[in-house]
Amino acid sequence: MPEYGAVLVAVLSTIAIVEAKPKCKTFADNVVCTAGTSDYELVRGLVSDNNKTTGITLRDCRITSVEYESFNDLNSLTYLDLSMNKIQRLKLGVLDEPKKLTYLNLSYNQITEFPLGLFDQITNLDLIDLKGNKINKLELGIFDPLPKLKFVDLSSNAFAGKDLNPYIFDQSPHITFIDFSRNNMEDAPDNLLNAFQSLEILNLDRCFLSNVPSFATKTNLRTMKHLILSTNQIARLDNANTFVNLENLQLLDLTANMIETINPNILAPLRHLQKVDLKNNKIAVIPDNLFKNLPKLITIDLYGNQLQNVPVNAFREIPLKNLNIANNKVTYLQDNFCLELRNSGGKIKKLLFDPNPWQCACLNDLLKEVKRLGIEYKSGKYDGKRPVCVSTSEFTCKRQDSVNSLYNDMFNEAKRKYFKQQKNK
Ligand SMILES: *[C@@H]1O[C@H](CO)[C@@H](O)[C@H](O)[C@H]1NC(C)=O
Ligand SMILES: *[C@@H]1O[C@H](CO)[C@@H](O)[C@H](O)[C@H]1NC(C)=O
Repeated sequence: MPEYGAVLVAVLSTIAIVEAKPKCKTFADNVVCTAGTSDYELVRGLVSDNNKTTGITLRDCRITSVEYESFNDLNSLTYLDLSMNKIQRLKLGVLDEPKKLTYLNLSYNQITEFPLGLFDQITNLDLIDLKGNKINKLELGIFDPLPKLKFVDLSSNAFAGKDLNPYIFDQSPHITFIDFSRNNMEDAPDNLLNAFQSLEILNLDRCFLSNVPSFATKTNLRTMKHLILSTNQIARLDNANTFVNLENLQLLDLTANMIETINPNILAPLRHLQKVDLKNNKIAVIPDNLFKNLPKLITIDLYGNQLQNVPVNAFREIPLKNLNIANNKVTYLQDNFCLELRNSGGKIKKLLFDPNPWQCACLNDLLKEVKRLGIEYKSGKYDGKRPVCVSTSEFTCKRQDSVNSLYNDMFNEAKRKYFKQQKNK
């Protein structure tokens, strides 16, 4: 009997040890591990010492630290995913071995900074994902050994743009994608991106910007296709020359800023612009020439602004397919709005206009028109309860600015009543 007891204890304890560390499986030279039952310090032996391995996925494996030699003898390794762990720092030397590495994903860890030289041996890297860490400092020279970098995600960290050394990316001219979103990029140096020769996507969402930063619009950035400036505090787009260098831009995203004034010529240099996103701003007036002569512009989003007037003239001579004017203060559109758009070069296919404080007679005209022309719209909930339009005793569409405030007030009152009813239910 005593022998059985000893065997049992031995078996149980090996099970406990096996389960505590991540379990790894290999499929076609790719090692994929899943978490064990406790936190784990990565050491040599789990994934190391296999010259055939090309990819290692250690995502969400409860790794708290990476010891020396963890990646030794991995001479074919190109792909390393260490995302969603609890790594706070990487010791100098731990990434020296897998010299063929091109993909390194360190996103969603707790890294605060990197020792200078950490990337010195992995000079083939073309992608580094550092999203969702706590990086508060990027030392000059850290990216210097990485001349092949193309994709850099630095979003959701803790550094401030104003502390970045302007020469931090000087040796990585081939970056095509860079994401700084959710870091404070106010007052970042003007020449921060000066080395870039082929940037395509720049993400500056939630970067505490009160202006379009000049580092984002320099001459060398004329290759840029997407500029994302959403969720900032930009109030004025006054300067006609702001985007003058971005002649290849296809997408300009200014969603959720505080834009009130727009220079009528500010978009004019953007000859390749396909989509401009201005939703959730404070635009009350669309300057007449704002969208003029933009031969590729097919999508304009003006959802959630203060527009009372949406003049068809503002959209003439562009190949517009999708227009969103919902959640503004529009009570009417000019008669045959969509037909006019089509007759002046537009290819309108989708028009979103609900909610707005519509005059019922005008909404009726518009609904007839979009149905007749086969234009997609969101029918909203015309359930006879939620207010979709308001009407006086006279059921005619009054197309005059002077009536706007009356219908806006009526609509707000109807909405107020509706929400009160909903609450009392
Ligand atoms: C991997 O290759 C290197 C040199 O190419 C060799 O020194 C080493 O012994 C190999 N390791 C294994 C585990 O096969
Ligand atoms: C990095 O890992 C995260 C989390 O696992 C994943 O969502 C993300 O797409 C990866 N990044 C890249 C560039 O592949």
